[in-house]
Amino acid sequence: MAKACGKTILFGEHFVVYGIPAIAGSVSDQTTVSARKAKGTRIKVEAADKRHNPEFLEKMAAVLANKLGINEGVELEVSTELQIGSGMGSSAAFCVAATRALAQIVGKNLGNDDVCRIAYEGEKIAHGTPSGIDNTVATYGGLVWFKKNLEGGANQIERLKARKPLEVVIGTCPRKGTTKELVEAVRTRKEKNPEKFARIFEDAGKLVDEAREALLKGEEKKIGALLNQNHELLKEIGVSTRELDAMCSAALKAGALGAKLTGAGGGGSVIALCPGKQAEVAKAIEKLGWPTLKVRIGE
Ligand code: MEV
Repeated sequence: MAKACGKTILFGEHFVVYGIPAIAGSVSDQTTVSARKAKGTRIKVEAADKRHNPEFLEKMAAVLANKLGINEGVELEVSTELQIGSGMGSSAAFCVAATRALAQIVGKNLGNDDVCRIAYEGEKIAHGTPSGIDNTVATYGGLVWFKKNLEGGANQIERLKARKPLEVVIGTCPRKGTTKELVEAVRTRKEKNPEKFARIFEDAGKLVDEAREALLKGEEKKIGALLNQNHELLKEIGVSTRELDAMCSAALKAGALGAKLTGAGGGGSVIALCPGKQAEVAKAIEKLGWPTLKVRIGE
């Protein structure tokens, strides 16, 4: 049996696919996968939870098994505490936990770097052209600064030590479109508006540099302001929705220092930084009809 955690992106989603750095932290909610050998050659995934789509998970698991040189039949059983398909890295958590579980049954002792590399191959099923940030956070946990290597070599990964853990609330609503579709839609808009997007991407890069400093120094107000700015950039590239904007506004009114969508957008999740105000902010988001999660990031 193996586990992997979910993630929330604090700064830089979408831009990270194009080599701009991003910062993400793990959440304590986890995905658990157990594996056993089975007759035949089929890779089967069983999920007691109806929210899962076993066929989709089987496609990812087949890629992972192939990378591990597994040619025999395997049955995987998955359960998760994460919201699925909502910006919390559920597909990456599955890929990481499944890689570890599969390696165990064939007696392979994989280090985290190998797990992360193999899980990335599974993530391609979910994302098309994933940056790799989700599987990186799901593998290593903690707070991570990440820069994709566009040449295909090793990505730059730095474990950050935030001066103060961030008290946040995550609010989640249903999502229209998959991560893959949302990433492709951004690519199309970028190709149609190269100048506008060049400006937005430059702003996104500067913002992540500032955010890194603010996190290291524990400057919560600054972090909050940068979250708001990041949300505006994500609105400009067309991945926010009315529901996500409404959750951010409600969080800010209830005392959050900053709020933004997190993950691919199109619905899914928002993250609101609200030290000492988690209860108030969660209540304000729940009043809109959406579930929340109170988490501390960077501990
Ligand atoms: C999805 O969690 C994050 C995106 O930036 C895609 C990626 O990084 O692969 C939208």
